[in-house]
Amino acid sequence: MASILDLIGNTPVVQTRRLDTGRASLFLKLENQNPGGSIKDRIALSMVEAAERQKKIQPGSLIVEATAGNTGLGLALVAAQKGYRLLIVVPDKMSQEKIFHLKALGAEVLLTRSDVTKGHPEYYQDKAARLARETPGAFYANQFANEANPWALEHTTGPEIWEQLGHQVDAVVCGVGTGGTLTGLSRFFAKVSPQTEMVLADPAGSILAPLVTTGKPPPKVGSWLVEGIGEDFVPPVCDLSRVRKAYSIPDREALLTCRELLRKEGVMAGTSWNSASQDPANQKFLASMKKAGVNPDQFSAQAYTGVIILAEAIQRSGGKTGREDIVAGLGKVKDLDTPLGKFSFTDSRDAKHEPSVQQVKDGKFQILQ
Ligand SMILES: Cc1ncc(COP(=O)(O)O)c(C=O)c1O
Repeated sequence: MASILDLIGNTPVVQTRRLDTGRASLFLKLENQNPGGSIKDRIALSMVEAAERQKKIQPGSLIVEATAGNTGLGLALVAAQKGYRLLIVVPDKMSQEKIFHLKALGAEVLLTRSDVTKGHPEYYQDKAARLARETPGAFYANQFANEANPWALEHTTGPEIWEQLGHQVDAVVCGVGTGGTLTGLSRFFAKVSPQTEMVLADPAGSILAPLVTTGKPPPKVGSWLVEGIGEDFVPPVCDLSRVRKAYSIPDREALLTCRELLRKEGVMAGTSWNSASQDPANQKFLASMKKAGVNPDQFSAQAYTGVIILAEAIQRSGGKTGREDIVAGLGKVKDLDTPLGKFSFTDSRDAKHEPSVQQVKDGKFQILQ
């Protein structure tokens, strides 16, 4: 390989062996095996290459991005290799691991508040956009609205999964941060296998799963501990139109499922791997997944193959997964003081603010500014 960047993509798929998946075959796409450690290496490269083609950057240019961490790490890898400067704006609930790692890669990191929403000047996306506007020659990568984001998933991850699973994919399960994964894979599977079911695994408190299941955003947005996924708005690149099944997964189940995956399969997933099971005790999620889009008669007659996108490695957010004090407190107390900081947990009944999404029309949503 000529460069570390050539190692981005072509990640392995592994089949689960010990998780109870019933008659379904469940595969994990190990995006944590990208050189920067997450699925975001792919979009970092495609966004930078698109900006180069469009002459928006040249060596030495400043790239600015708002990110929960992984896109920043991918961009830091790409920027360092290609000779760009990088400023990353990160919400302050993110893992220290990600922040130290970003700094080690040479990025400048600006922490901002995680308790404010879109439209607030301190909201990480608004802040990054403003800094990019105010800095002459700076390029705002803007993964939330950059078409090079879903493009990368449609043209790399999708075809890889299709080949790795031997052209037999009944369901794809992923979370939504920007929606790039969901949109890119939706587009790819709409072309090659329109019957493939897109399944959304969403943290409880996010508006996306309720939006899919009820057609309306919930009246309030909650907060959650899982990193990188869940939203209070529908990002411009996020196309939910092919999602028929969506699940709201509480933090406690998400963290416990990370542990279960690690112990049973030896797979080191970050917290956004929240999707294998809503409830490890009764495997509700897997039961639903087996049925997703397939009528039960048909299902009993055929094997069912699902793939879950595993976006990052446990090291990225594993501090939370392994922390007894955090896991024990989840679902029991609302405000938890831990050496990692104070966490407040809400569910839809005592959520904090209005969603930043207003209208639902033909599957389209209007974002409040
Ligand atoms: C850990 C993690 N999981 C999942 C995602 C979701 O990916 P996407 O932005 O493609 O929706 C992200 C990024 O936003 C992430 O950082």
